[in-house]
Amino acid sequence: MTTKIIAAAILLGAALVGERPAVVEEQKKPSPSRIDQGKKIYLKHCVGCHGIEGQGDGYKLLGADPAMLTAPSTQKKSDAALLKTIHEGKAAMPPWNIRLSEQEERDVLAYIRTLRRR
Ligand code: HEC
Repeated sequence: MTTKIIAAAILLGAALVGERPAVVEEQKKPSPSRIDQGKKIYLKHCVGCHGIEGQGDGYKLLGADPAMLTAPSTQKKSDAALLKTIHEGKAAMPPWNIRLSEQEERDVLAYIRTLRRR
C-alpha cells in the first residue's frame, strides 16, 4: 500500500517536471529542414562544449572532455544510445529532456550525424 503511494508520488513528480522516458527507437531519415532545425539547437545549446564542428574543443569542464561528436566511436553508436545521452545526460554532459522536446532532441541528433561528413 505505502509503496503504491510512493510510486504514484514519484510518477506525479516526474509528470510535473515534464520528464519523458528516453526515446529508444532508431531515427527515420531526417529531412533537410529537420537537420537545419537541429543545427540551430546545436549552435544555441551544444557548441560551447562540443565545438563548432563537433570536435569536442569547447569548454573542458570538470576534467571530462566533451565527446568528439565526429569520432567514429560516437558516430557508430546507435541513435537510441545517443538520444539517451542527450536526453538523460552523462557525467559532465547535462540532461536535455527538460529543455528540449523529443522532436528537438531528434533534430539535434540528425545534425550531429551530418558532422562526420565534413
Ligand atoms: C556542459 C558541456 C556540454 C554541453 C552544453 C553539451 N554536452 Fe554533450 N557531452 C558533454 C560531455 C562532457 C560528454 C561526454 C560524457 C561522457 O561520456 O563522459 C558529452 C557527450 C555527448 C554525447 C555522447 C557521445 C558519445 O560518444 O556517446 C552526445 C550525443 C552529446 N553529448 C550531444 C550533445 C548535444 C546534442 C548537446 C546540446 C543539446 C550537448 N551535447 C551539450 C558535454 C556537454
